[in-house]
Amino acid sequence: MNKDIAAILVGEKELDELVTKVAGEIDADFQKTGGRLLLVAILKGSVVFMGDLMKKIQSPVEIDFMKVSSYGAGTSSSGNINIHLDLQRKDIGDCNVIVVEDIVDSGRTLAYLTEYLKLKGARSVRTCTLLDKPSRREVDFTPDYVGREIPDEFVVGYGLDYDEKYRALPYVGILKPEVYRKS
Ligand code: IMP
Ligand code: MG
Repeated sequence: MNKDIAAILVGEKELDELVTKVAGEIDADFQKTGGRLLLVAILKGSVVFMGDLMKKIQSPVEIDFMKVSSYGAGTSSSGNINIHLDLQRKDIGDCNVIVVEDIVDSGRTLAYLTEYLKLKGARSVRTCTLLDKPSRREVDFTPDYVGREIPDEFVVGYGLDYDEKYRALPYVGILKPEVYRKS
């Protein structure tokens, strides 16, 4: 295990099971409604989840990416959402969008993006997150698809970072508090 990790919170086997569960829920919904399904991953934290999720969804999917920021280099949200990379497609009106996130914390990012993509004219907008910290919510927001809830701990790995590090760990681990307290 990485020396900066206090404990593994979600191991590789559980991650695989969570992704399979979420993919099954998305498939079940889209087999009912049909239509074009567009997964929009939020860079960079959700790339690992996105890569695994898209392989497990049986329905045809298209993918796209947005980059937004609410966090700076630290472990607390600024409350401001900045869009650094937007969708360029003109056919958004045909697309049933599912926004793919790594983790929901205050809820501000996905609450904002849901409204933003609706205003852009998406046919429908839903949200999917691997991890959810409901105890940290600052706005009224509930994701449509959730891998699992976790307690209020700062976690890294499987795409999630602290200061751009630890994204490539194959598990989700709790970062030792001394790592972020000393910087
Ligand atoms: P929200 O807008 O407060 O819900 O923030 C969501 C974003 O905060 C996520 O996409 C992550 O980038 C970041 N974030 C929140 N909690 C954690 C964590 O425990 N580890 C790493 N990033 C986190
Ligand atoms: Mg993120």
